[in-house]
Amino acid sequence: MSTSKFIVPVPKIEDRDFIKPLLCGPGPCDVWPSVAEALIKPVLSPVCDEFFDVLADIQKGLKYLFQTKSNLVLAISGSGWSGAETIISNLLAPSETLLIATRGYWGDRAFDSAKRYGINAVQFRIPFNTTFSLDQIERELKKLRPTALFIIHGDSSTGTVQSLIGLGELCHK
Ligand SMILES: Cc1ncc(COP(=O)(O)O)c(C=O)c1O
Repeated sequence: MSTSKFIVPVPKIEDRDFIKPLLCGPGPCDVWPSVAEALIKPVLSPVCDEFFDVLADIQKGLKYLFQTKSNLVLAISGSGWSGAETIISNLLAPSETLLIATRGYWGDRAFDSAKRYGINAVQFRIPFNTTFSLDQIERELKKLRPTALFIIHGDSSTGTVQSLIGLGELCHK
């Protein structure tokens, strides 16, 4: 297309300098210097052996982090919520029931995502500055018998940390 047909002129993009902020939240957050260095390595094709080697290393690291021997451990190349939505949409079929333990913004977001997939999402709410006890969760699980339970560990919208200890056993019961 001839540039004379452009109705929007070329924008003037400034080369901006930033003072490095101190980011301590759950995200975006400061990264270790070796991580920052890795970001300036050459971009790889996603279908070359070097890329698969890197993915295999990430998988090994994740297995160590989560202390699991499962081969279903994978890194999602997307934002944090794309990971959450991947789990919601792959773990449950439409019309199956997802119990969402909600104590902040992220529980509401899980509810909206699940509904869009046709999942029978049911919210169980407590005040936003509190966390769930095992008894509360057990009662709701027994009442609803859902396919899965969705719960946020560190809820950045309320600044609360939910203990996850014992939840796996409750779900398997
Ligand atoms: C608890 C929690 N879950 C999910 C997200 C979403 O992450 P992202 O913005 O990377 O999609 C955030 C972001 O702050 C978060 O705090």
